[in-house]
Amino acid sequence: MSLDGKVAVVTGAALGIGKAMTEILLQNGAKVALLDVNETAGKSLCEALMKQYGQEKTLFLSCDIQSEEQTKAALKKTSEVFGGIDILCNNAGILNENTWEKTVSINLMGVIRSTYLALEHMNKLNGGRGGVIVNTASMAGLGPLPSCPVYTATKHGVVGFTRAMAAASSASGYGIRVNAVCPSFVQTELFANILDKLGQFSHLADATKGMVEKFGTLSVSQVAECLLELVTDETKNGEALVVTPQMKKYMTFVNTIQ
Ligand SMILES: NC(=O)c1ccc[n+]([C@@H]2O[C@H](COP(=O)([O-])OP(=O)(O)OC[C@H]3O[C@@H](n4cnc5c(N)ncnc54)[C@H](O)[C@@H]3O)[C@@H](O)[C@H]2O)c1
Repeated sequence: MSLDGKVAVVTGAALGIGKAMTEILLQNGAKVALLDVNETAGKSLCEALMKQYGQEKTLFLSCDIQSEEQTKAALKKTSEVFGGIDILCNNAGILNENTWEKTVSINLMGVIRSTYLALEHMNKLNGGRGGVIVNTASMAGLGPLPSCPVYTATKHGVVGFTRAMAAASSASGYGIRVNAVCPSFVQTELFANILDKLGQFSHLADATKGMVEKFGTLSVSQVAECLLELVTDETKNGEALVVTPQMKKYMTFVNTIQ
């Protein structure tokens, strides 16, 4: 799939992985709406991107994906300004075992909410053009991060939602592929603050540091390259692409219910 002229929405676009995803989509010819709660960082990134790629290529929309109203409004605005939506990157996420309900609300409910609202614009059965959704899960979506049970649960939820939505979309004729990227640790603010966010599991900080030493860290651009692959390769649907500094591979799952 060529990205020329395609319209993408990236949540959590102001910083970290979302910023790198936004940049790779722009570099490949897409128009990108940046959705984020961080207005200062989002606006300043958007201004810089407008200078580099052109005024008409990008747009910042202040949006907390926990809010149905804000998310709906941001997607509507994107569709009005750019003329439809082809790509949704559900990337916004937090890691905080203290505020675990908020972690569930953003990481899992936010992904589901944005997906369902975006279907209204993308679904071929509703007059949309179809397209692709890529969810930023994590390696913690495939195996446990012991110091972060709730983060682990949300990311397992994202992987499950991705796979079931992909199957539901193809069985229903929505014309939308749905994939997940599952990175190990990535050099971002979220990563830099992990050890302060472990809550009742802060005694497991050393074990977490040990895992970081074992795996090493990815750059945001390595994750953005995976996004590009999942967006452009039209054979990929329902996939979980694992990426670590050592390897990149598509997960194979034991299918117990089909
Ligand atoms: N950094 C890692 O080690 C790592 C590894 C695997 C997966 N991930 C996942 O990657 C995604 C991006 O994380 P990151 O490391 O770039 O984090 P980050 O903290 O650097 O950036 C996250 C961005 O999301 C935004 N955001 C947070 N809550 C939001 C909300 N409610 N609505 C809209 N925007 C919101 C923030 O303002 C920020 O701009 C997350 O889903 C995270 O779980 C990160």
